[in-house]
Amino acid sequence: MNLPKQVMLREVGPRDGLQAEKAFLPTEEKIELINALSKTGLCYIEATSFVHPKAIPQLADAEELLSRIHRNPEVTYGVMVPNPKGAQRAVSSKVDDMMVFFSASETHNLKNVRMTVEQSLQNIQDVLDIAVKADIPVSAIIATSFGCPFEGEISENRLIDLVGRLNDMGIMDIYFGDTTGMANPKQVHNLSTKLLSSFPESRFGLHFHNTRGAGSANILAGLQAGVTRFDGSIAGLGGCPFAPGATGNVSTEDIVHMMEAMGIKTGIDLKALISCARKVQEYIGRELPGQVMKAGICPCSGGLKRYAA
Ligand code: COA
Ligand code: ZN
Repeated sequence: MNLPKQVMLREVGPRDGLQAEKAFLPTEEKIELINALSKTGLCYIEATSFVHPKAIPQLADAEELLSRIHRNPEVTYGVMVPNPKGAQRAVSSKVDDMMVFFSASETHNLKNVRMTVEQSLQNIQDVLDIAVKADIPVSAIIATSFGCPFEGEISENRLIDLVGRLNDMGIMDIYFGDTTGMANPKQVHNLSTKLLSSFPESRFGLHFHNTRGAGSANILAGLQAGVTRFDGSIAGLGGCPFAPGATGNVSTEDIVHMMEAMGIKTGIDLKALISCARKVQEYIGRELPGQVMKAGICPCSGGLKRYAA
């Protein structure tokens, strides 16, 4: 198999995960979760988002959260930012990375951020101006990249055009979101291969929701095409409240388990990550989708042997 030696994983549970929960997780518990995640070897945690608090009330405590977490200097604390107002809030909270977002599909973009894609791109330019002045890097995520629950298929040319627009602005870190789990491995392999060869200077990542059970297969397809950046959500929390049927991301600990079993280095302590997954399950108070936290670590393959008792 054609596989990389190491990967970079981003933990998006505190944002993508908690935005989808009906109940507001108390700030204290969010802080404990982020502090625990910060000690697992993860190098990027998407901590919260600076969107309108009425749009996502679950994350209305963004400022307080960022002022109270213990920041590990080895960890990049990123936030989602929809517009210049969000960017100003993010600068005041001294974030390490701003993640701008919009959808490949017009309909989902309108429902999610009440803007056309063109308006979103203009907003992203304005966010970028603020971020550059504050010396904060900007990455982007294109939602519904592999299909939209309202519009259906998204063409490869559409994505190539959008990546080109982001590159023209100087945004080189670009993630493709499978917002409602519509991707299949062949599609992921073909698209990733095409994008990696068309934009050699970009750094691409993949963000899969496991809505239809194909999340790990899609990650494997991305790996085989040469992608080395992936998003995961602790315990498999997650989903977009503005996309019908959206469910959680592939769980970070399941991704780490699969990668380390194949000998791919993640830099993450799987045992510590599983403790975080169990902790978040306790906080949320119902069974969450992550599998490895239930089954335990398989101690007999590749990089997992070090966990053998
Ligand atoms: N944070 C806090 N307040 C904000 C804000 C932000 N990022 N952006 C706008 N506002 C405030 C404005 O200051 C204005 O306040 P005022 O009425 O007191 O003057 C008000 O909201 C309306 O501003 P407007 O620019 O018209 O925003 P909107 O109501 O069209 O909302 C978004 C646009 C993008 C801010 C909103 O749709 C949003 O936050 N969406 C996020 C969706 C999301 O996170 N989805 C999940 C991720 S996949
Ligand atoms: Zn997502």
